[in-house]
Amino acid sequence: MAQRQEDWQRTHMADELPLLVGQEVILNGWVQRRRDHGGLIFVDLRDRSGLVQVVFSPDTAVCFTLAEKIRSEYVLAVKGYVCQRPAGTENPRLKTGFIELEAKDAWILNTAKTPPFYIEDNTTVDETVRLKYRHLDLRRPKLQQNLAIRHRLAQAVRNFLTRHGFLEVETPILTLSTPEGARDFLVPSRLNPGKFYALPQSPQLFKQLLMASGLERYFQLARCFRDEDLRADRQPEFTQIDLEMSFVTAQDVRVLVEEMMVTLAQEVLGRNIPAPFPTITYRDAIARYGSDKPDLRFGLPIVDAGGVFVDTNIRVFQQALKQNGCVRGLKAPGCAGFSRREIDELTEVVTQLGAKGLAWIALEQENKVRSPLAKVLTDQELADLVNLFAAREGDLLLLVAADEHTAAMALGQLRLYLGHKLDLIDENSMAFAWITQFPLFEWDDERGRYVAVHHPFTSPVEEDLEYLETDPAKVRAKAYDLVLNGVEIGGGSIRIHRREIQERVFEALGFSSTETEQKFGFLLAAFEYGTPPHGGIALGFDRLVMLFARTNSIRDVIAFPKTASGACLLTGAPGSAEPKQLAEVNLILPSDQGS
Ligand code: AMO
Repeated sequence: MAQRQEDWQRTHMADELPLLVGQEVILNGWVQRRRDHGGLIFVDLRDRSGLVQVVFSPDTAVCFTLAEKIRSEYVLAVKGYVCQRPAGTENPRLKTGFIELEAKDAWILNTAKTPPFYIEDNTTVDETVRLKYRHLDLRRPKLQQNLAIRHRLAQAVRNFLTRHGFLEVETPILTLSTPEGARDFLVPSRLNPGKFYALPQSPQLFKQLLMASGLERYFQLARCFRDEDLRADRQPEFTQIDLEMSFVTAQDVRVLVEEMMVTLAQEVLGRNIPAPFPTITYRDAIARYGSDKPDLRFGLPIVDAGGVFVDTNIRVFQQALKQNGCVRGLKAPGCAGFSRREIDELTEVVTQLGAKGLAWIALEQENKVRSPLAKVLTDQELADLVNLFAAREGDLLLLVAADEHTAAMALGQLRLYLGHKLDLIDENSMAFAWITQFPLFEWDDERGRYVAVHHPFTSPVEEDLEYLETDPAKVRAKAYDLVLNGVEIGGGSIRIHRREIQERVFEALGFSSTETEQKFGFLLAAFEYGTPPHGGIALGFDRLVMLFARTNSIRDVIAFPKTASGACLLTGAPGSAEPKQLAEVNLILPSDQGS
């Protein structure tokens, strides 16, 4: 008799069964594996809620022969009774480990070829294979949990912001360039030959226009597109929790975001995190941690040792200080016993970032140091260093002499390296921090002009307005970044809302007035019709989920991510276009690349 799907609808999910002992149920799911044991067939059936053991016995199951055909990843409907497992056969590691389903009947809803890899969490299978079969990879409980965390976070964000008077508004995907420092993805317009849309790098301009429109509080879980080099925490398309508020100060925005983070941690992870978060100025972050996104889960601050070496005989230190550079370093506690090889590895970390070398002083015992500088280092210098670093016997001092930028980058990286090597990082902690007082501009050698550190719509600090034309590097921005465990999870600012100041900033960035008018005329015009003071922030949603789900790649929290070269291995995107499609959008490719 033909089977009907209606008769095989599931009555319960696997994880509900422990409370249903003695009842008859129908489960639908996938076969994790099948084991044959002394006449009985055991099938681990998996659905989104978990695994349950199903037992087929030749005595009770009419479908025993069917059970013999079952393979991994078959899709199955099973009818049966929920029973306690016989004593001694329980599996305490499984939520359903004390019960099993005694099969009465079963139906194969679909068969499956042997999958290219086992569907299990501790996989060592290469990511490219998993991305090609992402639909199978996503069957792994870990990835399903990640997507569930993503969902819960999105819900919690929406609820929180709704409670705080925000309206969710969608902004266009086909739009004009929104400068956030990356390249645009362009989309040719068929109806406007030779013209292109750009996919938004962020909804920045639209959210400002919504403030001009009197929305007052806007948010969006916004999809953004940036054509830039990809890394573990970057995707060409990603999602932001984007928000904007009118009539606020930077402090208001930050307090709201802190409250949101506290709520998210509470609602999604059941954790209490302390607020307010520490605030560090950009300068201090660079000086102390060698990074504008410091990992504050551990200490190891960078120390400026320049003062110790004012009159030194050590040539490299002398030179660096004379050329306006610096001598800075770190104390690796208890590492005086590091081998030559270990020290070479530390040296490698700093030289890769442009430092010429790493000076080291191992305080082996009182009055006994091991160091390449031992002969030239004076007793006074040693005593001053010990004092400065509050160093003790057994510590290793590591010094870099270079220009300030190189020293910061090199020591910042060395600090992270040591943090991991010495196991100083508490994986459980959530170390949030605000970074503030960014400069508005930085000089870009390649372009031979100043560029915006955040974006060109960020408001300068009022007291610094006078330097916009005379000394742009001195102008501070009303900007703030949010950092969590060494990852930049958000950036925002108070914006410019007056035409005159926006024009001066564009000018400082080297835009001609025609260019300004062409690209941003609509924004400048909006400023002329009563745009209120406003500010906001965007948080990298994928990065936040990544940190909440405790993984180290955003690919693990995006259903269908792209590889480092921007490819989707599952669908094969990007693909080529038919000549007809190209003709329709007036594109001609060089012949060797065509279709
Ligand atoms: P910003 O460019 O700093 O600011 O972006 C905000 C946050 O978005 C995340 N992010 C990314 N995540 C994944 N992949 C990427 N390629 C990627 N690029 C950025 C980061 C970052 O902190 N419009 C402004 C915000 C504002 O001023 O309100 C903006 O987009 O976590």
